[in-house]
Amino acid sequence: MTQQPLLVTCGLPYTNGPCHLGHLRTYVPADMYVRYMRRAGEEVLFVCGSDNHGTPIVVSAEEQGISPRALSERYHKHFDETFKRMGVMFDRFGMTDDPATHHRAQSIVAELEKKGYIYKQTVHQAYCTKCKRFLPDRYVEGICPHCGKPARGDECDQGCGKHLEPGEIKDPVCKVCGTKAEFRDQEHYFFKLSEFKDFLLPFLDQVRGTSNAKNYAIGWIKEELHDWCITRTLEWGVKFPGRDDLVVYVWVDAPIGYIAFTEEWARANGQDWKRYWCGENRVTHFIGGDIIYHHCIFWPALLKGAGYGVPHAIVASGMVKVDDHKFSKSRGYVVWTNDDYLDKGLPADYLRYYLLAYTSHTKELNFSWKVFSERINNEVVNIFGNFVYRTLYFAQKEFDGIPAGTVDPAIMDEIGKCLANVDQFMRDYEFKGAVDAIMALAAFGNTYIQTNAPWKLIKTDRAAAAQVILNCVQITKALALLIQPAMPDTAERCWKQLGYYDSVAAHPISDATRPVPEACIKPPTPLFVKMEETQVKELDALLQKRVAEANRKMEKTPAISIDDFAKVEMKTGKVLAAEAIPKSSKLLKLQVDVGGETRQIVSGIAQFYKPEELVGQNVIVLTNLAPAKIFGVESNGMILAAGDAASLLTPLKAVEPGTKIR
Ligand code: MSP
Ligand code: ZN
Repeated sequence: MTQQPLLVTCGLPYTNGPCHLGHLRTYVPADMYVRYMRRAGEEVLFVCGSDNHGTPIVVSAEEQGISPRALSERYHKHFDETFKRMGVMFDRFGMTDDPATHHRAQSIVAELEKKGYIYKQTVHQAYCTKCKRFLPDRYVEGICPHCGKPARGDECDQGCGKHLEPGEIKDPVCKVCGTKAEFRDQEHYFFKLSEFKDFLLPFLDQVRGTSNAKNYAIGWIKEELHDWCITRTLEWGVKFPGRDDLVVYVWVDAPIGYIAFTEEWARANGQDWKRYWCGENRVTHFIGGDIIYHHCIFWPALLKGAGYGVPHAIVASGMVKVDDHKFSKSRGYVVWTNDDYLDKGLPADYLRYYLLAYTSHTKELNFSWKVFSERINNEVVNIFGNFVYRTLYFAQKEFDGIPAGTVDPAIMDEIGKCLANVDQFMRDYEFKGAVDAIMALAAFGNTYIQTNAPWKLIKTDRAAAAQVILNCVQITKALALLIQPAMPDTAERCWKQLGYYDSVAAHPISDATRPVPEACIKPPTPLFVKMEETQVKELDALLQKRVAEANRKMEKTPAISIDDFAKVEMKTGKVLAAEAIPKSSKLLKLQVDVGGETRQIVSGIAQFYKPEELVGQNVIVLTNLAPAKIFGVESNGMILAAGDAASLLTPLKAVEPGTKIR
């Protein structure tokens, strides 16, 4: 019996912002997996597309004054180009707003209705009386009913992380105009998710992929499984069949995009998409840990309900952080794939290596420029690059290329063991394990060439030196073949330096143990350039600057009303006396006339003013600050000053002490 073809998909990027390193942790490992499986002899289809629907895209488009379609097309093109630059090669990269997804989503929803899995129900939905519209998902902000933290309409993003159903959010406020929203009744459609518990538990028990995906999902199902509201009051999206005023929730049509993109590819290539999706299948979803719920619970239930095959494997990565902080555009903790990396002239393969080799796929990955450059220099450049260069340089210089002979069985054995290891790791979705095993073969090669020192051997025994170098060339060939799924560009260049004319990608991985033929080669060039410290510092400075700028923006205090301001009493004052406070280098004790009364005020300005400079100066005083003891000295008010150097505020025109500030 022939194997089912493999279908690999990646979580679809939203079209409301550019590609960052967090995204790449879904795409790069998936691309490596696809390349490897193909070269291990499997039939693999690799599809993805952009996720165009949902409120964040409508909100962004509104802000930019363009249509959601135009915004989606812009970012769709951006992702398509960025993926190619990163060597992530989909067979099809579609758009969920294209007709195929609309059709497939409507057909699946209609099928679910026919089977009785969808029902109508009235819900209390947040409504903005000022904007005169219902507020789905991101249009509303409020308080999470589960943990009490600030939340968005559909997700508790700052607290417990739970998915929120329409109507669940507490204290809703319209995101567009800031008006307190009210709840109004509205009719929506629900999917009977709760009926799928008996399907989901055994499904998750056997599904392949990474353990984090299934374990989280099983935990959630055991906790509770509510029916799921699958419609929204929006213009933008896939229309709910028979209702022109409602679209389906974006998490309904987005995964259906996986099917639609397969259909689009199949139509263009004269193939049958049903081979991939119906009955027993090998659909493998690569996602980030943030969307496990949607892929392990909603999605399999939808497929099952509509009579499609259910996913074969769900591979979920740990989240990417920057400098040990959660990814956050507003806080500046973000590294943009184009602006910050590729456009700086850095090779895609370095980043691919880092994303793959940093840690086990299910663990968190921390990006920092320092660790990035260290690992590239110590591992990629010093181990892999060095070994290949030394081998080819010596082979070319002394033998004009690859000497004739038979590779030592012990060397072939070592390569064979590496192949078996890599294969096991890849099938277990342990990409780090696979890359480490390849690096270990390069390290073995380095030790081998160092201990056998062919540059010495050649002076006494040319044949023995030729044997050593032939062994090293065989290892180099294996390295090129093995590293190709992880670092395709590097592998191709290495392959050419070995004297081949074709593409390394055309060869099965197993060619690693096929003997290299005698051949003449050109003088090699180093495969890699080291990352210089000055460059690393510059790249890091850019990131730090962005974080600092974001901090400054965040410092903006929330707006207050005029009533709030009225609680603050400020008056002009004249400094009558000033003296230092013993044993304090920062504090001065002032006597200030604030109109009919003299206040004693302790102020932290000793580093910037001498007491005698201050006497006679007009200042501004916060007069209704509750009295306090500072350094044991009574203080009754506060002198206003600007900035870190404490520039004292003073009235521009002369006024009597005690004049109110308004
Ligand atoms: N549109 C949804 C996915 C729909 S799939 C039917 C989405 N889009 S996204 O643009 O936010 O993310 C795209 C992919 O990148 C997802 O697989 C997501 O998990 C992944 N990541 C985005 N940011 C990430 C990190 N900071 N770290 C790791 N992966 C993350 O989610
Ligand atoms: Zn409003």
